[in-house]
Amino acid sequence: MNKVDVVLGSFYGDEGKGKIIDYLGGSADVALRATGGNNAGHSIEVDGEKYVFHLIPSGILNKGTLAIIGNGVVIDPKVLISEIESLESRGKSVAKLRISTKAHVIFPYHIEMDNMLESNRGKNKIGTTARGIGPCYCDKYERSGIRIEDLYSDSFYEKLKRNVDAKNKIFKIYNYPTVSVDEIYKEYQQYAKKIKKYVCDTTILIHDLLKKNKKIICEGAQATLLDIDFGSYPYVTSSNPTIGGILSGSGLNPSNIGEVIGVMKAYSSRVGEGPYVTELKNKTGDLIRELGHEYGATTKRPRRCGYLDLVALRYAILINGITALCMNHLDTIGKLDKFKLCVAYKNGDKITEDFTTNEKGLLESNPVYETFKGNFPDISKIRKYEDLPIDAKKYIERIEEFVGVPIKYIGVGAGREDVIVR
Ligand code: IMO
Ligand code: MG
Repeated sequence: MNKVDVVLGSFYGDEGKGKIIDYLGGSADVALRATGGNNAGHSIEVDGEKYVFHLIPSGILNKGTLAIIGNGVVIDPKVLISEIESLESRGKSVAKLRISTKAHVIFPYHIEMDNMLESNRGKNKIGTTARGIGPCYCDKYERSGIRIEDLYSDSFYEKLKRNVDAKNKIFKIYNYPTVSVDEIYKEYQQYAKKIKKYVCDTTILIHDLLKKNKKIICEGAQATLLDIDFGSYPYVTSSNPTIGGILSGSGLNPSNIGEVIGVMKAYSSRVGEGPYVTELKNKTGDLIRELGHEYGATTKRPRRCGYLDLVALRYAILINGITALCMNHLDTIGKLDKFKLCVAYKNGDKITEDFTTNEKGLLESNPVYETFKGNFPDISKIRKYEDLPIDAKKYIERIEEFVGVPIKYIGVGAGREDVIVR
């Protein structure tokens, strides 16, 4: 039986997961999303054309690839339908899309709740994507959530009404506009009709496909440090984007998992609030943002930028069982004259190589750096590791030595083919 290879974010998201997923997807029969929702934004460039995916596994771009949205994903059907229509309008077929009956549905009151909670948090806001992700997962765990299969059930109206009534009570307390059950019901009935042909029991489907020896690539969303348990809580997303979430969000079991590919950049970035040890609030940070085009694919927000953090990377490897790394934007970091690599945290006079998720601990940690030479010549056409400039190889080999996991894929440009595979 083929093993499922999983692509995961190793840092705070936006590591370029889409690019490696797209690369690996060429040889896969199935692309699977198991976690998160349209808070994700995965950009892919094919033949100079840019595609941004929020919900649909980007593997759908490969002809013949089945694209599965698993039970762990929260789905805003309006966004899903616009993504389907946008792909179709560009001549891409979505006939091979499958959506789990068990995935939870995002409703307008989740989005309003997301905004309301953020504004109530004031200066402690999380900086969410305002897509209703957190409130939808809240309902899931509170056991009042509405699943995709409920959209087709006789009890849909009643379930929706119970939710709407409960939310409206809260909206009234905080002077937020209430929502109308009848309007939402009508709107979502239309959505339900449009997506019905894609809905099925994806757990059974996945295991059937494995029995038929199909190759599945799982597309992680978000990232380790945004994990609700293992990330920099409370500045995290409301799900487990780490390996455990992949299993519970799909129905795969541990023995199904093959390679776990951790994606990172040659530098780092974060959107939203929260501690970020290697952040550069200076001209170098601004330069990285411009050179790396670090503006959100989902919210267009400028990303906070900094150097690569090996303390955090080693933690991500530990949590996820990462067996291979993919490092993007080597070309970007090489445009700087020199750049740094964080190899420890200094807290007072204590130096540690252990990552902490404690907010105060992170805020008080200062990076201990090693410096590397940049000014690489244009490396975007290089396809063999040996051909990389010596300073680039020194950087890569130092990272590998520190974390003990090979960097198997190296992104040297934005295009689909701009990858060195070792
Ligand atoms: P991809 O898959 C980067 C961040 C938000 C915010 C926090 C909580 O593109 O890597 P949420 O809307 O999830 O409740 O927001 O998580 N966040 C991401 N940051 N990339 C993502 O996804 C993200 N998904 C959520 O910015 O700080
Ligand atoms: Mg993103």
